[in-house]
Amino acid sequence: MKLIEVKDYNEMSQKAAEYIIEKVRNYPRINLGLATGGTPVGTYKILIEDHQKNGTSYQEVTTFNLDEYIGLSGNNPNSYRYFMNEKLFNHLDINKNNTFIPSGVAKDIQAECLRYEQLITQHGGVDLQLLGIGQNGHIGFNEPGTSFQSNTHVVDLAPSTIKANARFFDNEEEVPTKAITMGIATIMKSKEILLLVSGESKNDAMHKLWNGEVTESFPASILKNHPYVTIIADQAAVAGLKMHS
Ligand code: F6R
Repeated sequence: MKLIEVKDYNEMSQKAAEYIIEKVRNYPRINLGLATGGTPVGTYKILIEDHQKNGTSYQEVTTFNLDEYIGLSGNNPNSYRYFMNEKLFNHLDINKNNTFIPSGVAKDIQAECLRYEQLITQHGGVDLQLLGIGQNGHIGFNEPGTSFQSNTHVVDLAPSTIKANARFFDNEEEVPTKAITMGIATIMKSKEILLLVSGESKNDAMHKLWNGEVTESFPASILKNHPYVTIIADQAAVAGLKMHS
């Protein structure tokens, strides 16, 4: 894992956006894996600005999001489909038919998991996967204890994740308790991974990731076994980190 340390959230967003823009420009048919949550919002803003100012095109780009809440349709402002449209897709020249997110309202949720996994494979896999990290080390919605062998699957969200995500809802009771997520094995199949980490609330997770062992009780630790991971983390996230352990 390569660590790029930056000052703050804005610098993290800038660096991450530059990283992605360069890839898209060099490889216009790239398959991007995308994340929701607070972490990538600044990055998405800069991608939009760059598209408007410099004309970076997403016409041939395909995207696969990590996860979606079960029970929320794409019209629900709290769904991840809605989030992605609002925060990114509506402002780029991307073909929406090439933006994939698991459906949280599929009649047969198990079949939807299989379909999504196959869809990624049929498209040749994810070239660059953008990730955030949960305070408990989750990636996607793979909570502690998830098998490293997992493909796209249904999860019960951990109480801490529901609490953390309540900030996007009117109240905690409205946060769905289940989601569909790419599995750990799905994420590990990406050719390259870009992990963004910002803020003091992620400091503990950053310590466990950098200095801890690879264990299913801290899902992000599996990234140590991936050949091509870049972490862009700000000072608050890396404070006190022993760079060489
Ligand atoms: C989002 C996702 C999650 C978030 C994580 C961090 O699609 O899969 O793993 O990346 O919960 O969330 P934020 O960025 O809100 O701190």
